Amino acid sequence: MTPNQITANLRSEFAALFGGEPDGLFFSPGRVNLIGEHTDYNGGYVFPCALSLGTYGAARKRADGRLRLATTSSPGAVVEAELGGIARITAGAEKWANYPLGVADELQKAGYRPGGLEMVISGNIPGGGLSSSASVELLTGVALDELYSLKIGRVELVKLCQRAENLFVGVNCGIMDQFAAGMGKKDHAMFLDCASLEFEYVPVALRGRTLVVLNTNKERTLAGSKYNERRSECERAVEMLRQKLDIRLLGDLSAPEFEANKGLITDGTVRNRAEHVVYEIERTRDAVKCLKAGDVSTFGRLMNESHISLRDLYEVTGPELDAIVEEAWRSPGTLGARMTGAGFGGCAVAIVANDGYKGFVENVGRNYRKRTGLEAEFYPVEIGGGAERLT
Ligand code: GLA
Repeated sequence: MTPNQITANLRSEFAALFGGEPDGLFFSPGRVNLIGEHTDYNGGYVFPCALSLGTYGAARKRADGRLRLATTSSPGAVVEAELGGIARITAGAEKWANYPLGVADELQKAGYRPGGLEMVISGNIPGGGLSSSASVELLTGVALDELYSLKIGRVELVKLCQRAENLFVGVNCGIMDQFAAGMGKKDHAMFLDCASLEFEYVPVALRGRTLVVLNTNKERTLAGSKYNERRSECERAVEMLRQKLDIRLLGDLSAPEFEANKGLITDGTVRNRAEHVVYEIERTRDAVKCLKAGDVSTFGRLMNESHISLRDLYEVTGPELDAIVEEAWRSPGTLGARMTGAGFGGCAVAIVANDGYKGFVENVGRNYRKRTGLEAEFYPVEIGGGAERLT
């Protein structure tokens, strides 16, 4: 659906559920990470960009402190809560509302005083793995911030949304997704140091190539549990290295320091996890240098190396992501391809020469179907801005 169709739908759904007009329309993007995977919670670098695809919301203030939330995915249904006593929804079709509820809760815990809200949301983010949850969080945060003039700094809002996901929803994610949704900039990726939150906007100029998102259409069933398992494996690696090194996170470690001390990590699996993180951080720094210098070919090669490391050392890819990425590598005109996001299904990202794009979609689609029985989807990426009020 086009943005105009979505906002028109939202307006009529809003009128049907709540009557009248919303006070404002809001947008918040999904994201794709170009390189730097499973590094954010290790205090390393990431390099995501915001998509022009995202979540839209029509919202209006309420004087009675109630929250009334709806989504066009379950037409007619309204989730109700009181600002004074927000509880997590533990089961059923209403669980999506934990993202907006969590944000309202964390804002209040941080001392902000938003009032009630009625809001309908709708989006066009395809599949899993492009951070629709962070998109909904920032959408809610910006709606409350704007409508109640809370004057929350944007990076502060990003952190509060991450807290909502960590503490309210219960997913122990890093800062990347909320940062990308909150801080995105048109035609730029964000080179972010997740330890300090220092960052730089880097233009994504691909010189005759297209950035494309490949949706495996494989559901990310294990994503939650395996994600938390990887996080604790990284913590175990740090614990063992701390026998000799004064580090807090794997991101504090250079590659030579890792090589000199990796023997301290006695568990082979845990050592592999640490090796991925240490070299992925290096690759991300190198990749950004290449992109700035206009060397898209080396950028692509580093993307491929990132996928191989996520497959063999970090073990978060799975047969579908491996199949789609291998087929992308095989297709002429591909400069690089890798999984993006948490892994275990969801999406991959590739850089493809413009004149090879049509053949790419045909080849990869056909061979992926043969190997997995699944239909892949392809989206040329338009890099958009961060969450904002539209009207
Ligand atoms: C998910 C998390 C992010 C990040 C990625 C992996 O998207 O939400 O914080 O850890 O996985 O890079």
